[in-house]
Amino acid sequence: MIDDMTAGPRGMKLPQRVRMVEVGPRDGLQNEQAKVPTGVKVGLIDRLSAAGLPAIEAASFVSPKWVPQMADGAEVMAAIKRRPGVRYPVLTPNLKGFEAALAAGCDEVAVFVAASETFSRKNINCSIAESLERAQPVLAAAKAHRVRVRGYISCVLDCPYEGEIAPERVRDVAGALKALGCYEISLGDTIGTGTPGRTQKLISTVADVVPIAEQAGHFHDTYGQALANVYAALELGVATFDSSVAGLGGCPYAKGATGNVASEDLLYLLDGLGIETGIDMTRLRMAGQFIADFLGRPTTSRVARALDAKNPLAA
Ligand code: HMG
Ligand code: MG
Repeated sequence: MIDDMTAGPRGMKLPQRVRMVEVGPRDGLQNEQAKVPTGVKVGLIDRLSAAGLPAIEAASFVSPKWVPQMADGAEVMAAIKRRPGVRYPVLTPNLKGFEAALAAGCDEVAVFVAASETFSRKNINCSIAESLERAQPVLAAAKAHRVRVRGYISCVLDCPYEGEIAPERVRDVAGALKALGCYEISLGDTIGTGTPGRTQKLISTVADVVPIAEQAGHFHDTYGQALANVYAALELGVATFDSSVAGLGGCPYAKGATGNVASEDLLYLLDGLGIETGIDMTRLRMAGQFIADFLGRPTTSRVARALDAKNPLAA
């Protein structure tokens, strides 16, 4: 992205275009205790694609004993209206998940590992080294089927069990995922404790092994720092960010963690900076209102709340 940058405030160069990866239907809904019907998930995903999101993480093919909410991934994938040009990645922790995703017609998957040993055990029941070994056949099978693979790393700044994580540990895991063939590495601040200085140090350390154009930011907003961290990452040229409509979510294996930065809030920031995304705010708010209405609680997006107060969406 370095030669595709626009001048931001204070003359700082920022990316001209950002790719927003919507993770609400997966990272958001996986945390809901009450079953969300397949039709509601499909309604949400179709509204998000109508809003112009270029990538919508639609489901997980994980053990239904571990995350029962995601058990209907195949039904979701069969029912969504796939818009040309939109990608619908899904999480696959192992070959069993990959095969199920392939059978469901997925054309992009994500493997997910952690930079913390304890979180890795809690989330996927294995060590970091074992998780990388498990990812290897997934990437090999994906290559054979021309399926793109994204790599996630959790706990890139802090772990709920181990505390601070050194950037060098993240760099080593990121390097291993890149070597396996992941086209992009999404850096997950799972518990949202990160602040901009540490975020920049992390990104520049990971850049030793993964170019900034192949890094994505995945900031949970638990401490209200996600947009500040996005801006810090933009300053370094990161041009892909994960976000969750209506601020849905959390992580079942990180107590107290809240959702990702709300997609509406991220879009407002990027629009304000003159950075292109191709996303329509009104349609995005409609998607957020749809799921908030279903869940029976207000959106946590500050921007959606402010715009709703000024200019309510038609019922
Ligand atoms: P395990 O119990 O060690 O695995 O779980 P296992 O191989 O012994 O299998 C246990 C049972 O699960 C077996 O069934 C398998 O067949 C089945 P049984 O014989 O008992 O009837 N199984 C599966 N079923 C469906 N799909 C599969 C699958 N694999 C095994 N793919 C495992 C290991 C990885 C499977 C489990 O720990 C798991 O599914 N974990 C998923 C956890 C998860 O989804 N966490 C949330 C997503 S990660 C996240 O939110 C972080 C992120 O947002 C970034 C950030 O914010 O940090 C990405
Ligand atoms: Mg997450």
